[in-house]
Amino acid sequence: MNLPQKHSVTGTNIFSVMSGLATQYNAINLSQGFPDFALDEHLSKLLYDAACSGYNQYAPMPGLPVLRQAIAKDFKNRYNITVDADTEITITPGATYAIYTAFTAILLPGDEVILLEPCYDSYLPNIEINGAKAIPVSLVAPDFSVDWNKVKNAISPKTKAIIINTPHNPTGAIWAKSDWDTLAEIVRNTNIIIISDEVYEQLIFDNEKHYSVLEHTELRERSFAIYSFGKVFNNTGWKIGYSIAPPKYTSAFRAIHQFLAFSVNTPGQYALAMHLESGLAGAVGKIMEQKRNDFISLMQNTLFTIHKPTKGSYFQVASYEKISDMGDLEFAKWLTINQGVATIPISSFYKDKKDDHLIRFCFAKKQETLLNAVDRLKRIG
Ligand SMILES: Cc1ncc(COP(=O)(O)O)c(C=O)c1O
Repeated sequence: MNLPQKHSVTGTNIFSVMSGLATQYNAINLSQGFPDFALDEHLSKLLYDAACSGYNQYAPMPGLPVLRQAIAKDFKNRYNITVDADTEITITPGATYAIYTAFTAILLPGDEVILLEPCYDSYLPNIEINGAKAIPVSLVAPDFSVDWNKVKNAISPKTKAIIINTPHNPTGAIWAKSDWDTLAEIVRNTNIIIISDEVYEQLIFDNEKHYSVLEHTELRERSFAIYSFGKVFNNTGWKIGYSIAPPKYTSAFRAIHQFLAFSVNTPGQYALAMHLESGLAGAVGKIMEQKRNDFISLMQNTLFTIHKPTKGSYFQVASYEKISDMGDLEFAKWLTINQGVATIPISSFYKDKKDDHLIRFCFAKKQETLLNAVDRLKRIG
């Protein structure tokens, strides 16, 4: 029996491929976006306490009230935004799931979704699984800024949504307030919905500010904002995130969520709530900024060229033009197998696999890991 092909992406996703190769060849893994250092001891103890105190059965479908309230308070403190914990926040098993659920809540077969490329690799298959069509619009190198004319031209009567990601994976570009204003002008007389992937909101550098779609009163009414605790508290393996959206959108989101995951790991939710409430949650942005600075300065001793210092996220894009003219996928595999450092080729973030001979390094690693990796990279050439 032939099973249906639900989307156009063939084979295994690039993160599994490169992490698999890293394990197979004992390479240092700077490919997938996860930290290799311990999470805050306070948070791991809270998880243990939660399990010992009986927080082990199904949580309510929208998430533990105590966590949703802690998030609402956190957004009030950090952004001065009022978010309703009951009607606007839904806890999810990670941000990837939340993005899928938002798409599933709004898309019908034949709809179109504008994708700004390069982009996180789940967006395209998520759109297609729902019978919709992705309309890619390339960001403009070297800054990976938005070409607004191209966005305007990509809009059709079938456009249902646009997905935004700031700070941006893989380029580390961030949106200014003026970007949101321009987007607001463009969508003003349409029914286009915004999905704003803000998982790296707290990993922002050089005293820049993250502008959330939730701060834009006009856009907020038509937006899902998506977050991940994994990226903020160095616990990506917990897979806990959340969606914030107006009550009508949240109802549609929960209509899907209740039959997909239904609810999310209870002790993890409780631990995160207590951690947020404790005021002990550290300044992860400053730690990551230091890592970015260290990584960029170490890389000066290699033949790689830092593309543009990343402004946010875990990632730094670099060119290998002084080393090889291989395609980026081939180069990334060569680098893993022969030089012992795994990275991600940027072409994998494009629908048509556009290859600008760039690779992405994840610098969310211990100093020792970065030093060892750069030692290996220095030997090339
Ligand atoms: C842009 C972006 N969105 C979402 C995610 C996934 O977040 P989560 O692990 O919470 O599903 C990632 C992870 O790399 C990401 O880079």
